[in-house]
Amino acid sequence: FIRLQDLIDQNALQGKRVFIRADLNVPQDDAGNITEDTRIRASVPAIKAAVAAGAKVMVTSHLGRPTEGEFKPEDSLAPVAKRLSELLGQPVELKQNWVDGAGLEGLQAGQVVLLENVRVNKGEKKNSDELAQKMAALCDIYVNDAFGTAHRAEASTHGIAKFAPVAAAGPLLAAELDALGKALGAPARPLLAIVAGSKVSTKLSILESLADKVDNLIVGGGIANTFMLAAGLKIGKSLAEPDLVGAAQTIIDKMAKRGAQVPIPVDVVCAKEFSPGAAATVKDVKDVADDDMILDIGPKTAAQLAQQIGAAGTIVWNGPVGVFEFDQFAEGTRTLALAIAQSKAFSIAGGGDTLAAIAKYNISEQVGYISTGGGAFLEFLEGKTLPAVEILTQRAAAK
Ligand code: 3PG
Repeated sequence: FIRLQDLIDQNALQGKRVFIRADLNVPQDDAGNITEDTRIRASVPAIKAAVAAGAKVMVTSHLGRPTEGEFKPEDSLAPVAKRLSELLGQPVELKQNWVDGAGLEGLQAGQVVLLENVRVNKGEKKNSDELAQKMAALCDIYVNDAFGTAHRAEASTHGIAKFAPVAAAGPLLAAELDALGKALGAPARPLLAIVAGSKVSTKLSILESLADKVDNLIVGGGIANTFMLAAGLKIGKSLAEPDLVGAAQTIIDKMAKRGAQVPIPVDVVCAKEFSPGAAATVKDVKDVADDDMILDIGPKTAAQLAQQIGAAGTIVWNGPVGVFEFDQFAEGTRTLALAIAQSKAFSIAGGGDTLAAIAKYNISEQVGYISTGGGAFLEFLEGKTLPAVEILTQRAAAK
C-alpha cells in the first residue's frame, strides 16, 4: 500500500483536503472524562505530519457502538476533540452533520477539524457505497490510520478507500503492521506466545493459528484450566470449558509433532471463592481439591515460564495468566511481565487486559511494541486478513 509518508515526500499534501480515519475509541467514565488516552496520543503523528505538509485536515473516528441515525450526547467525540487539541497544540473544531460537506467548505491549510462520530451515519457499519462515496467526495486524499478498527469493513475504513482519489496508510497503521509482521512473519526463534484469558472458545482460532507457528505456547487463565483437563489433571471448580478439551488436546498433539510445546502448570494458586479478599493457597497441581478455584499459576510454574521467556527470540503476549486485579493472584502475571521486560527478545503485546497489566507493572518502556488494537490485534494473530488493510493494498496494486 501507499504510505502517508510517501505522499509527504512527494509534497502531495500541500493545500489538499486530507481525510484521516483514526481509531479514537477511548474509554470514558460516567461523567464523560477520558480515562485512557493512548489511542488519541497514537493518532497525533499522522495529524501533525499532515498539518506540517500543508494539508486541510479532517479527522474522524467511531466512539462506542451507537445506533445509526440516532445521535445521543454520550456518542459525541467532544471530549476527544478537546484532548486532541491539547495534544496538537492547536484548535480542533468538532463538526456535526458533516457527511454532505456542510461546514467544511472554508477549511484552511494547516487547520484540523474533527468529524463527529462516524458510526452515527446510516450505512457506516454496513459499508454502504452511497455513504462511502459521499465521504470520498470530501477529500483529495484518504488516510487510514485506524489499526484498532482495521478488522472492520465499514464505510470509513473500507468503502471510502475504493472511491477516494488517493488512499494511503497512516504511520500508526503501518507501524502496527510492521511490528506484527516482524513478530509473526519472520520471527527470531524461539517464537513464544502467551495467550491467556477466561475462555478457550473466544481464543480458539488464535490458539489454532499460533499452534502452526510458535515454538512455545504458554496458556493462562481459564484457557490453561481447559488444557490442564486435557492433560488429565483435576481443576476443582475452576473456570473451564470441558467441551473444548478435545480441541486443546489437538493443539497439544499438533505442536508436539513438530517439537513445540504447550507447558502445563506444575503448581497453581487456589482459593475457595472468587473475591478480592479470598485467601490464596499455593498447591501442587496434583493436590487441587474439588472445592478449589485456580486463580493464578504457582511460583514454580512462573519461574519455569520466566526462564522460557528469557530464552525466547520473539514474544507475543495477549492476556494475563491470573486474576492480577487481586494482588494475591497477581504474582504469576507480574513474574511473566518482568521476564518480558528483562528479555532481549522482540516483544509485542496487545489487548485491554494486557495493557492494564503492562501499566500496573510499569514495563511499557521495555516492551518492544504495544498495539493499540483489541479485536484487530487478535484477528491478526488468528492469521486473518484485515479488510481495511486489504483494500489499501488492492488500491495500490490497481495503479
Ligand atoms: C476497539 O475498541 O477494539 C475498536 O475501536 C473497534 O471497536 P468495535 O469493536 O466497536 O468495532
